[in-house]
Amino acid sequence: MLGCEVFQNGVASLLRHVREQGLANVRIAETDSFRVLGSLPETSIGRAFLLFPDPWPKARHHRRRFVRGEVLDLLARALADGAEFRFATDHADYCAWVLARLLAHPAFAWAAEHPADWRVRPADWPPTRYEERALAAGRSPVFLTFQRRPRRSGAT
Ligand SMILES: C[S@@+](CC[C@H](N)C(=O)[O-])C[C@H]1O[C@@H](n2cnc3c(N)ncnc32)[C@H](O)[C@@H]1O
Repeated sequence: MLGCEVFQNGVASLLRHVREQGLANVRIAETDSFRVLGSLPETSIGRAFLLFPDPWPKARHHRRRFVRGEVLDLLARALADGAEFRFATDHADYCAWVLARLLAHPAFAWAAEHPADWRVRPADWPPTRYEERALAAGRSPVFLTFQRRPRRSGAT
């Protein structure tokens, strides 16, 4: 398991959880996740989570959003065929932004079949602090699962 976090406090908090839970399979990159994605070998990830990323709500800051064309290309490269990209947010505009970009990207397919698929967090998907905050504030998070389409020779 590989976690990315840019802020030292976040890394310290993650290390505390790793120690408390006795996890032995965690690696932490204290750097920008874009860089990490770009350095991963092709087809090396079986599942990627992006949980409650900063929504950058102002239009002039949208270019800072994690989900954007060039990052999706890096993600598509690193994910194995059939691997999942899981995304959660409580921000309606960012949700619409992500759906529009993932549905338009040739390497991804949205796995949802029923409303419960995006309204209810699957059991094998860990809860987070920001999810708790959203629920406590009366906001309903969404949970989107996308699958990396199988590569065909010469295709993305
Ligand atoms: C809104 S918090 C959500 C934290 C956690 N995922 C949760 O759901 O409780 C966003 C986190 O992403 C981290 N972050 C923001 N941009 C990042 C980047 N480019 N690479 C790695 N971490 C980043 C921030 O430091 C912050 O800890």
